[in-house]
Amino acid sequence: MTGAARGLGAAFAQSLRDAGGTVVTCDVLPGADAVVDVSKADQVKAFVDDVTRKHGPIGIAVLNAGVCKFTSVLGPWEDVESDFDFHIATNLRGVFLCGRAVLPGMVERGKGNVVIIGTDHLCRPADFAYTAGVLDAYDASKWGLMGLVNAWVNAVGSKGVRVNSISMGATDSEMLRGFTRVTSGKEPTPEAIASWMRPEQIGALMVEMLEEGPNGRTSTNVPVIVGRPIKLEPWTPSSVPNTHPYLGVQLLQPRT
Ligand SMILES: NC(=O)c1ccc[n+]([C@@H]2O[C@H](COP(=O)([O-])OP(=O)(O)OC[C@H]3O[C@@H](n4cnc5c(N)ncnc54)[C@H](O)[C@@H]3O)[C@@H](O)[C@H]2O)c1
Repeated sequence: MTGAARGLGAAFAQSLRDAGGTVVTCDVLPGADAVVDVSKADQVKAFVDDVTRKHGPIGIAVLNAGVCKFTSVLGPWEDVESDFDFHIATNLRGVFLCGRAVLPGMVERGKGNVVIIGTDHLCRPADFAYTAGVLDAYDASKWGLMGLVNAWVNAVGSKGVRVNSISMGATDSEMLRGFTRVTSGKEPTPEAIASWMRPEQIGALMVEMLEEGPNGRTSTNVPVIVGRPIKLEPWTPSSVPNTHPYLGVQLLQPRT
């Protein structure tokens, strides 16, 4: 579990522990089991090797670590490289490195789960307000994750490994509270916080998805939208078209 010193990652870890799993967490901040910067290949590899040595093969990898800050599309030129690199390093490179570190072991054992944390910007209902004008680098990094889901399912879907993303909207965390401070200049109100989803609700959904077992859904981007029921839609490999909910394009079919 990456990015689990606080926020959604900490809640996901607790949900998996409550479901009986052995969970080892990392974060670039103190507060997780290990201090790891997921954008650094050597740190990712050392963490995965250490977890495997101490606890056995990794069965589930939840790739949650993420960063987000406003990057105005019309912002100063001096910021363009740092805006891009900041987001890509953790949100895309970090997921890429972690996935590449765990997938070979999962394929070798013929089972495993990779869960990637996206955003509702990847599956936003048409009637939802959108802040894309100040999130171009963040969104680019998160859209890139769909490419990883697609490519990894294509490579390992027939070998018993499931790869899915969960793309939720506003969920209470330091990231979202910080976002609100920047946009309004104030702490979020209790009313605003009450309107957000709770991290443990997303954690419960993740557990439900993982408990589907080896024949459960794969190659999906599960949307979780504020104000809508937090639930998994029925899925079977044969009966439900494996369609990206926003683009309307078909992701590659996982099993033959
Ligand atoms: N909270 C929301 O409303 C929301 C909505 C959509 C998507 N997300 C996504 O959910 C995930 C979790 O976000 P959150 O809301 O809990 O935010 P958060 O800022 O509270 O937690 C993110 C965690 O990731 C860690 N992290 C950042 N860079 C890292 C790195 N390079 N290596 C290791 N750890 C690193 C942070 O230290 C932090 O503990 C992120 O991927 C975020 O993009 C959140």
